[in-house]
Amino acid sequence: MTRRTVRIAMNGVTGRMGYRQHLLRSVLAIREQGGVDLGGGETLWPEPVLIGRRDHALREIAERHGLTEWSTDLDAVLDDDTIDIYFDAQVTSARVEAIKKAIDAGKHIYTEKPTATDLEGALELARLARTAGIKHGVVQDKIFLPGLLKLKRLIDGGFFGDILSVRGEFGYWVFEGDWQDAQRPSWNYRAEDGGGIVVDMFPHWEYVLHELFGRVLSVQAHVTTHIPQRWDEQGKPYAATADDAAYGIFELEGGAVAQINSSWAVRVNRDELVEFQVDGTHGSAVAGLRNCRVQHRSATPKPVWNPDLPVTESFRDQWQEVPDNAEFDNGFKAQWELFLRHVVLDEPYQWDLLAGARGVQLAELGLRSSAEGRRFDIPELTL
Ligand SMILES: NC(=O)c1ccc[n+]([C@@H]2O[C@H](COP(=O)([O-])OP(=O)(O)OC[C@H]3O[C@@H](n4cnc5c(N)ncnc54)[C@H](O)[C@@H]3O)[C@@H](O)[C@H]2O)c1
Repeated sequence: MTRRTVRIAMNGVTGRMGYRQHLLRSVLAIREQGGVDLGGGETLWPEPVLIGRRDHALREIAERHGLTEWSTDLDAVLDDDTIDIYFDAQVTSARVEAIKKAIDAGKHIYTEKPTATDLEGALELARLARTAGIKHGVVQDKIFLPGLLKLKRLIDGGFFGDILSVRGEFGYWVFEGDWQDAQRPSWNYRAEDGGGIVVDMFPHWEYVLHELFGRVLSVQAHVTTHIPQRWDEQGKPYAATADDAAYGIFELEGGAVAQINSSWAVRVNRDELVEFQVDGTHGSAVAGLRNCRVQHRSATPKPVWNPDLPVTESFRDQWQEVPDNAEFDNGFKAQWELFLRHVVLDEPYQWDLLAGARGVQLAELGLRSSAEGRRFDIPELTL
């Protein structure tokens, strides 16, 4: 076996996503499995160089995982010709500037979503990347989740007949931070720091809907801030200026309608933190992160509306679990492997900065829809 090393500057690895999903569960997990098998006796070996603002935090992470390279000087790392890829999991508001520098330095780009806080910034990155001729990818992890992979399998197998509608429920209670610590960073709740549930979640809904059901043709949303005051990491109160709930309706190419509620101010009465119910003429499914259950038209009960009588059957028990029939890897890792293969083998890869810009576009038009009380068509993006 020969080893082909790919050096990746990883920025934002002290953060929740950067550390857990990207460093630990993806790049280090790939190393633990011996690299990515490229065929022909060759293995791809990712070599992370940790980037951040605090030297001691980077050193601590590096030492914990037996890594030897870290830096607080992004410019110097980008100047290093041996670095192949720049990866960004910083706070959203710091992303555009750093990615621009990395494109300028000729690095391939892999980044968390949203790629920018507005469409203009997202499109600029996509254009710069195209002009520079580098390879680029954006995290679109949800389509690699077992539940959604099973849903995709059902769609591809023709289970649904005509798909009529998609109902998504996403959310959980994020503590305010006074009597119990908040379980998400406080910048998420400040618009001025790039926070807000629409900017965070609509990019996910864009690629999930687009990839599974068809392009999003229009958006109508009601966006609000249910919890106006929160407490930050230091226990100090602050005004929550960003939206924490969004109720959106999306028309899809092919005629289906999607309605997705996203909220950090809802208590979970579901099996998973996100669930999508898909109803079709021949069957329905409810898919979450891991599981997916179905009901075929032949097994559909015939309830009759009569509020005077108690319910006599358990509707939830009438659904059937879709079997795994495969081993599912961590979604972030699966996408990293595809991106790395794209970089070194030039294999096709569709989740690029233009795809990322579509997510930012949906968020931007969703916010405008709510602010102006209008429904917006979504123009198809080109560079
Ligand atoms: N794909 C997903 O499912 C998913 C989920 C959550 C968050 N995200 C995205 O990942 C990114 C990081 O989110 P997170 O939840 O890990 O955030 P986090 O606050 O935990 O981490 C942010 C990182 O950015 C760094 N940073 C750089 N400049 C900063 C600044 N000016 N202020 C504060 N921190 C700064 C921090 O040091 C830290 O390493 C965001 O863009 C977010 O939208 C993606």
